[in-house]
Amino acid sequence: MLRAVVFVSGGGTNLQALLDAQRAGRLGDTVIAGVISSRPGVYALERAGRAHVPFTVISPKDYETADGKKEAGDPTAVPDDFACALLDQTKRWQADMIVLAGYLVVLPASFVHAYSGRILNIHPSLIPAFCGRGYYGLRVHEAALRRGVKVTGATVHLVDEGTDTGPILLQKAVEVQSNDTPESLQKRVMEEAEWQLLPEAVRLLGKRLAKERGIG
Ligand code: GRF
Repeated sequence: MLRAVVFVSGGGTNLQALLDAQRAGRLGDTVIAGVISSRPGVYALERAGRAHVPFTVISPKDYETADGKKEAGDPTAVPDDFACALLDQTKRWQADMIVLAGYLVVLPASFVHAYSGRILNIHPSLIPAFCGRGYYGLRVHEAALRRGVKVTGATVHLVDEGTDTGPILLQKAVEVQSNDTPESLQKRVMEEAEWQLLPEAVRLLGKRLAKERGIG
C-alpha cells in the first residue's frame, strides 16, 4: 500500500472527499496515513478524528526559521525548524506522497525537495488563470467573477518551489452562471471539480509510484 499524508488548514472538504473515496475503494493502493493541519481547532481535524486517521498540528508560527524567509526555491535554504518538524512527522507516518488539501502555508523549499515529484495540490481555478500569490479560497472566485470568465474550474498539479507553478496533472471545467456569487461559484467548483479531481490524482500518483517501485 502507498501512504498519503494530507496537509490541511481549514474546513477539510477536500480531505473529506479523499476519506470518502478511500472508503469507496476509489484510491486504489493508496491509504490516508495521517493529517497535518497548519492551525489548531479546524474542522478538518474533526473529519480526520471521525475517520480514525491520526492527525497533528504543525504551525509555522511555533517554529524559528533557521535562515529567515529565503525566497521559496532557494537551493541554499537550510531545513529550518518548521521544515524539520514537517519532515519528522511525514517520515514517522512513512509518507510516500503529500497531498495539500486547502493548505494555506507555503512549504519550505527543503521540504519540497525531500518529496520532489510527490506533492499534490488542488487549486480552485484552471491554472494559469487566477493563481499564484494571493489567489486562494474565495479570492480566486471573486477574481474570476470580476474578470467575467464564462468557464472556470479546478486544477491538480505537482508542487515545486513556486506557488501554483508545478506541472499540471488534472483539470476540470465548471460553467460560471450569470447569477453566481463567489460563494455559489466556490461551492459548485468544489462539488463538480475539486472533490472529483483530488481523489483521482491521488489514485494515479499512487499507481505511478507503485509501478516505479515494482509493487502492486
Ligand atoms: C477552498 O477554497 C478550496 O477551493 C481550496 O481550499 C479551500 C478550502 O478547502 N482547495 P477545504 O474545504 O479545506 O478542503
